[in-house]
Amino acid sequence: MMAESVAKGAASVDNIVVNLKTAADTTLEDIRNCGGIVIGSPEYFGYMAGMIKDFFDRTYEFVKNNKKEFHRPYTVFISAGNDGRNALNQIERICLGFPFRKVYEPIISRGNITKGILNKCFDMGQTIAAGCDFGIY
Ligand SMILES: Cc1cc2nc3c(=O)[nH]c(=O)nc-3n(C[C@H](O)[C@H](O)[C@H](O)COP(=O)(O)O)c2cc1C
Repeated sequence: MMAESVAKGAASVDNIVVNLKTAADTTLEDIRNCGGIVIGSPEYFGYMAGMIKDFFDRTYEFVKNNKKEFHRPYTVFISAGNDGRNALNQIERICLGFPFRKVYEPIISRGNITKGILNKCFDMGQTIAAGCDFGIY
């Protein structure tokens, strides 16, 4: 739900093609071809979902050796039961190495996902997309 709202927000900006994918389906080529990235994860056991970690694990080795090609603006949203901070911290830590640059304040949803959270997700997608369109990143 959060991902769909981010995607809707991004799609509301002219000239933007949105690629909404699961982490498992996301590849190095997707990073190469995109202007900006929004990463979403639940917090499981105080960490990101395993498939998000798998995405980083699969792509990092190449990125590490070709860093100049992979500077991208990014942000994060987290769905958590009652915390979410460590999943966020760990994603941010990994993204420093990619090297992605955080350009928007991350969102943490705690408990049931509310309409307010979905509106924030829409704004997140819209703002990042507009920034990409304007070339400000
Ligand atoms: C295996 C498992 C571990 C979880 N660990 C945490 C946790 O460490 N911290 C937390 O705040 N919520 C935790 N939760 C709650 C989930 O983060 C919460 O239900 C979240 O909304 C799940 O998002 P999803 O519906 O996209 O899977 C856990 C849930 C599961 C199933």
